[in-house]
Amino acid sequence: MNIALIAALMASAAAESGEIELNDGWEFRRPGEEWRSVSVPHDWAVAGPFDKANDLQFVLIVENGETNATEKSGRTGALPWVGEGEYRRMVKIPEGAEWAELAFDGVMAEPEVFLDGERIGGWKYGYSPFEVELPRSGLVTVKVSTRPKSSRWYPGAGIYRPVRLRWGGRVGIPAHGQTILTPDLETVEVRTELRNPDSAPVAVTYRVMDAAGNCVAEGESPLKVKGAKPWSPETPNLYTLETTVSSGGKTVETRLDRFGFRTVACDSGGFRLNGVRRKFKGVCLHHDHGPLGAAFSKDAFRRQVEILKDMGCDSIRTSHNTPARGLLEICDEMGMMVLCESFDCWRMPKGKSDNGYHIFFDEWWKRDMEQMIRLGRSHPCVVMWSVGNEVPEQRTKDGAALYREMQDFVHAMDAEKTRAVTAGMSSMPDAITNGLIAEMDVPAVTYRLPFYQAIRDASPRTGAVLSAESASTVSSRATYKFPAVAAKKKTYPDGQCSGYDLECCNWSNLPDDDWAMQEDNDWVLGEFVWTGFDYLGEPTPYDEYWPSRSSYFGIVDLAGIPKDRFWLYRAHWNKESPTLHICPSHWNFKGREGEITPVYVYTSWPEAELFVNGVSQGRRKFDKSSRLDRFRLRWNDVRYEPGEVKAVAYDAEGRLAEICSIRTAGPVAALRTVSEKRYGNLVYLHVALVDADGNMVPDDDRTVTAEAVGVMKLRGMCNGDATSLESLAGPRMKTFRGELVIVGEGCDGRIKASLEHPARN
Ligand code: GAL
Repeated sequence: MNIALIAALMASAAAESGEIELNDGWEFRRPGEEWRSVSVPHDWAVAGPFDKANDLQFVLIVENGETNATEKSGRTGALPWVGEGEYRRMVKIPEGAEWAELAFDGVMAEPEVFLDGERIGGWKYGYSPFEVELPRSGLVTVKVSTRPKSSRWYPGAGIYRPVRLRWGGRVGIPAHGQTILTPDLETVEVRTELRNPDSAPVAVTYRVMDAAGNCVAEGESPLKVKGAKPWSPETPNLYTLETTVSSGGKTVETRLDRFGFRTVACDSGGFRLNGVRRKFKGVCLHHDHGPLGAAFSKDAFRRQVEILKDMGCDSIRTSHNTPARGLLEICDEMGMMVLCESFDCWRMPKGKSDNGYHIFFDEWWKRDMEQMIRLGRSHPCVVMWSVGNEVPEQRTKDGAALYREMQDFVHAMDAEKTRAVTAGMSSMPDAITNGLIAEMDVPAVTYRLPFYQAIRDASPRTGAVLSAESASTVSSRATYKFPAVAAKKKTYPDGQCSGYDLECCNWSNLPDDDWAMQEDNDWVLGEFVWTGFDYLGEPTPYDEYWPSRSSYFGIVDLAGIPKDRFWLYRAHWNKESPTLHICPSHWNFKGREGEITPVYVYTSWPEAELFVNGVSQGRRKFDKSSRLDRFRLRWNDVRYEPGEVKAVAYDAEGRLAEICSIRTAGPVAALRTVSEKRYGNLVYLHVALVDADGNMVPDDDRTVTAEAVGVMKLRGMCNGDATSLESLAGPRMKTFRGELVIVGEGCDGRIKASLEHPARN
């Protein structure tokens, strides 16, 4: 059943109660500005302009191996997110309602909510959902304030997640008041909290509907559904629970929640979903949607999940903060497990983030954690909690006690007792010697492969280790540097990283290293790669280089276009459909004629032969004994000559299985649509420069202008270039390596893209 139908049913089933999204009709201003109309989710900063001055810092980054503070820029996206903003909107509570509240999914940051000028509520942490009771209809104003040095990445700014108006009678269900558990694959147990200030006699009954809307169980909790279809990433089967609250002989609230039958366990048997052991094939994600900034969009997220699932990814770590409610809904729906994480720091400040979460920690952590657990506890996709990421307390003697307190708090709050709690730790051996690792339901580590065995030995409960963060390999799409050699912290004059997938940070490693560790050790529970998509901010290794304002870590770039690494992971992770990909992804290396230009093949087939202009370069198989030949097929002696490179793959029986090729492109002849896809209200148009034969041209960038036609508006443009200072709002932008993506929003109409100077050659 789709969400719109559920919402309609909710509103109609009981006129006394209901909820609607209040996303239109807001006005917004920043100090000194006039009010202007906006709709939320809204991120006031993403349109820019990019400016080094927006987040210039003078800091020392210990992880980079630095000993002196230096000037850094772009670490939070170089966008104007710091400062104040104000939103307002008339809110009318429906006739007859005796109670109402505004439910904010997240406001960045420190929102203060007023009704007709009188303060009625507020929150601190920009990532927490919160509710504010609304005593009457009137003018609601939300004041927002974001502090400098409060984030290590681009946080966004404003009412960047949806807002709902909820109303009802005196008796009803509070926000996130449902706990839905499936202790086994045919039983659903429901606990319904009630708002009932007069202690009126109340009855609560349930009905369970299958995907077709048939009632498959009804009565009181627990309910049995014989032959229920289980939820998993591969089979995201969902059911709908209808809860009816009656009081004084009449229905006072009816609500619909989706849930899935699934069990989780994490113990000496490893991690098991529905009783089946599996390793996480996961990615870490920050919360921005590239050109849309932090403004949450279910449609934009759906696209991300579609791309990730094609790669074979089955899980997401919401690094390092409470996710949007809509993110969990999409993960339920599309089948993605979630490691739901709360904080990037606790009581102690992290690096030079003087205004990080630590300034609120003591007063707020329980409230924030409670909100996260209430938000996530009934979602089948949430399979594990994380209470923090690389917190400085991991290096202190009191760190273990604080961790234990937080883990106990989660267990007390979450009625599903089999969900494990963890946190990503990086300081080894400190976190081992101070007892922190031993406290954890599942010890999770970021990078630090040489410590895995010691962590396992220090963790008697499961004898397992989870890679909360892996790889942190860096690359720029369709960009290749020579010689192709494995390197750490490598930089180049153009501010890009090599696409040969051989470069990482001082503290990190290559995908190949993680996979060797996981394959060779049953007790490694899998990984969450840093990161699935590039994000705004943290332009490592170019913290000191300007302009550079977004990450290079992504397997997929900021525009959502896969880098070569996408196929490296796909070949390893996706067992459903074969992969055959040539890296470099193009064969335009003018000036390298006769020079060594290595070619890698990323494939799920066991063997391949490479040809350059029809001449065989040899047939290769994977070599388990070699670091870089275990998961890639490499031809390191290829000499560049323009023309065609072809890979011919063979199956395990030596039969020809698949062929792919790339060819040297000529001059730009046209702009071509690579794909045009609609996700709900969003349209993503991916365009590329092509030569007269239709080959993509990677080495001659042009300015593209975008125009929205019909019932559509332009939402953004992105080329995936971390060094670009062109506005992500468009309407013009240069291609990067010949490609870019335009995002439009509207129920009808289309986006038109054209070359600014079509004749130039
Ligand atoms: C980790 C950290 C992440 C990100 C990453 C980059 O140490 O937890 O937030 O900064 O490094 O490699």
